[in-house]
Amino acid sequence: MATLGVNIDHVATLRQARRTVEPDPVWAAALAELGGADAITVHLREDRRHIQDRDLEVLRRTVQVKLNLECALAPEMVEIACRVRPDQVTIVPERRAEVTTEGGLDVVAHRRAAADAIVRLRDAGIAVSLFLDPAAPQIETAASLGAGIVELHTGCYANADGAERQARLVELAGAGEFVRRVGLELAAGHGLTYRNVVPVARLDGMGELNIGHSIVARAVLVGFREAVREMKALIG
Ligand code: PXP
Repeated sequence: MATLGVNIDHVATLRQARRTVEPDPVWAAALAELGGADAITVHLREDRRHIQDRDLEVLRRTVQVKLNLECALAPEMVEIACRVRPDQVTIVPERRAEVTTEGGLDVVAHRRAAADAIVRLRDAGIAVSLFLDPAAPQIETAASLGAGIVELHTGCYANADGAERQARLVELAGAGEFVRRVGLELAAGHGLTYRNVVPVARLDGMGELNIGHSIVARAVLVGFREAVREMKALIG
């Protein structure tokens, strides 16, 4: 059965829209744990557009399930990770202008930097996952560098419809099988929603699914009526 890593970045996005203290992603992490999350995932971006250094530090002290830090292959990030020591680091590509992570890490092109980062993180006792497109050369390289986990990028599957979506699912299934054949743990994420997640969760050997935007989007609406009722009661 697949496990669930809940990405709480967009709780922080809402807070940063006003540069205030609410909603606090630390509270969201606690509620996600109460809801059964197997992991809490945060992406500390170089531009700090949502998660802040303080969030990561408090989460390290409070999260009781696995804490998974997504970050770029940058010396500053590897240093922060080695100091804060999340249970896992997922290395992702990062471009400043992007709305969200667009595509997997090109670990073939960045082999040397990835190798250095993986050694440093593993020496600090941190499990390493690489966020990759479902492509054999990327997966082979991940295995040769000693990453323990590959998270397959599901964005192309999530964005496709009909026959194209089915083709993308077949591609993910093949890549997933290859990840396990080279001895790595299999994870997946990006763009997964309440409508498209089930076929991915059912892929053979699927481990962790990291899901953020869709859960945060639903939480806003599921909680909206109650939030309005509470304000109305206060002023009435
Ligand atoms: N996995 C990785 C590696 C990501 O970068 C992201 C987005 O931060 C996710 C999963 C979650 O994607 P989404 O917010 O679309 O569910």
